[in-house]
Amino acid sequence: MKEKILIANWKMNLNVKQSLKLGTHIAKTMKNYKNKYFIILPSFQAVYALKKHSLIKKIKFGSQDCSQYEEGSYTGDVSADMVKELGCEYSLIGHSERRIFYNEDNKILKRKLKCAQDSSLKIIFCIGEDLKAYKQKKSKAVLKKQLSNVFPEHFDYSKLIIAYEPVWAIGKNRTPEIKEIDSICYYIKKLVYKKYKFDSIPVLYGGSVNSKNSEFIFYQDNVNGALVGGASLKASEFKKIYDSL
Ligand code: PGA
Repeated sequence: MKEKILIANWKMNLNVKQSLKLGTHIAKTMKNYKNKYFIILPSFQAVYALKKHSLIKKIKFGSQDCSQYEEGSYTGDVSADMVKELGCEYSLIGHSERRIFYNEDNKILKRKLKCAQDSSLKIIFCIGEDLKAYKQKKSKAVLKKQLSNVFPEHFDYSKLIIAYEPVWAIGKNRTPEIKEIDSICYYIKKLVYKKYKFDSIPVLYGGSVNSKNSEFIFYQDNVNGALVGGASLKASEFKKIYDSL
């Protein structure tokens, strides 16, 4: 059986002090196992502070983004190499908030995927349809587009995790039907196999996951875990979700 994965996306919600408080609490109460593990995505500066804390040595970290450029005059950007240097093992790429607020399209995402892979980062790649597409039953068409012409040449699919996050379910306290989540995750696995000949891609679900719905979501055959935003900001809630994984 494939390993289960839980990811905490702290977004831009916690300063360094708050991140240290939550991170140490998590480190004291949760650990990685052979069959399941968790990854935390703090702010860049919080990763730096957390990595220096002795309790936190065993936690896996990732960045919430990385630059589409390798290095140079790109004011404000943080390169994939810098992310790696910080001690991150992963980088999240293609989150809907980046697609929407920063106009990140497949062209930009392809460059980010290349930079991340060239820096030996594992990648969590987010895809998901908006409410209009969902209502028009065009979710699969949107996902197919998001998974087409985006992976660079010689891409190593064994270092990839896909997170299916319907945009309309993020931070909204609503999710698709559990069966719909399972069937979309199945669709994504099949599509990756058909297009890229890689047959064991982990697919996570994200969008209003909490300790009340996680057990039902994780029970589905094609769901390999979750990407959690709001509910990852409270140690006890995040642990409950992890316990149900
Ligand atoms: P949410 O966010 O759990 O608060 O819905 C998920 C995400 O954006 O990754």
